[in-house]
Amino acid sequence: MATKPPIRVAVTGAAGNIGYALLFRIASGEMLGKDQPVILQLLEIPTEGAQKALKGVAMELEDCAFPLLQDMVLTDDANVAFKDVNWALLVGSKPRGPGMERADLLKDNGKIFIAQGKAIDAVAADNARIAVVGNPCNTNVMIAANQAKRLPRNRFTAMVRLDENRGRAQLAKKAGVSINEVSELFIYGNHSPTMFADFTHAKIGGKAVTDVITDRAWLENEYLPTVGKRGAAIIDARGQSSAASAANALIDHVRDLATPGAVHSVAVDSEGRYGFAEGVWAGMPVRSTADGYEVITSYEMDDFAKSKIKITNDELVGERETVKDMLG
Ligand code: NAD
Ligand code: LMR
Repeated sequence: MATKPPIRVAVTGAAGNIGYALLFRIASGEMLGKDQPVILQLLEIPTEGAQKALKGVAMELEDCAFPLLQDMVLTDDANVAFKDVNWALLVGSKPRGPGMERADLLKDNGKIFIAQGKAIDAVAADNARIAVVGNPCNTNVMIAANQAKRLPRNRFTAMVRLDENRGRAQLAKKAGVSINEVSELFIYGNHSPTMFADFTHAKIGGKAVTDVITDRAWLENEYLPTVGKRGAAIIDARGQSSAASAANALIDHVRDLATPGAVHSVAVDSEGRYGFAEGVWAGMPVRSTADGYEVITSYEMDDFAKSKIKITNDELVGERETVKDMLG
């Protein structure tokens, strides 16, 4: 059987918590396919501790003897990490601690994405796609995309898939059904407590969620805050931010973007859709295509949904204002 040419995948923050939950799954073929060889290009900060930890992770990857893992590059230089990559997974950045909002990370983390956006644009493959996880991810991806002169903006996405997965799980639990019964649950807006997990169009077993879960007060006042504040609840319980579920969501995000026809929530350049401001990156439903995605624009929003979208859009516009000096 002919072997496919390898796909080069850069992962930043590779020695961090999410990195540790992510790399082994990429190398085993869960993200890009069980017949798809990969080369991992791993970026960490230049401190002795981070580089030593990165070496340790690479030793473990080697010890797994993954047949699909063709090579690894370990580096503290973004121009080396992103050289010729087809996928760049931007995880590396500071997580929030208890009592913080993700937006509190903007000033510290935002500047990382200026340098990395520039490096990706300079050295990545022509077909490179970029997925941002580091928080606040919607605004960080906007910063990175604004550095790009060569790569189009629609190559840059941020992850709201963890929110979609959380939202589906909570609906399945409330209705007492399997997760597979929940469909068309999409996340609109920011990866923050203002996100709108659109239960108004979601379905359980093919029926409207609002016909299956008739307690509207629960949907509005318990469900939405539970999904929106789940990240903080995990930090409170674990003492550190979600890692395995975040890595799992990133595997879902990339796998589905690489699978034409897959329908899922992705934070993309809004281009003014669904009432979002032009130029902010907002979660919305997309259908993957052979080389990207198209936004599904057919959902009609009622006044309740519009009011929720307005709140999360206002927050995205506010974050953009905070980082206006980083937008090039
Ligand atoms: P972590 O602190 O365990 O690891 C982050 C790693 O990034 C560290 O090893 C650090 O050295 C490295 N790093 C920092 N700056 C870097 C840079 N400029 N280049 C390369 N590497 C760099 O954190 P974590 O738990 O892995 O989380 C990483 C990020 O992901 C955080 O910002 C967190 O808030 C975010 N996150 C997002 C989601 C989401 O759904 N979008 C979910 C969970 C976590
Ligand atoms: C999450 O949603 O779990 C992550 O974004 C981490 C956080 O800060 O909430």
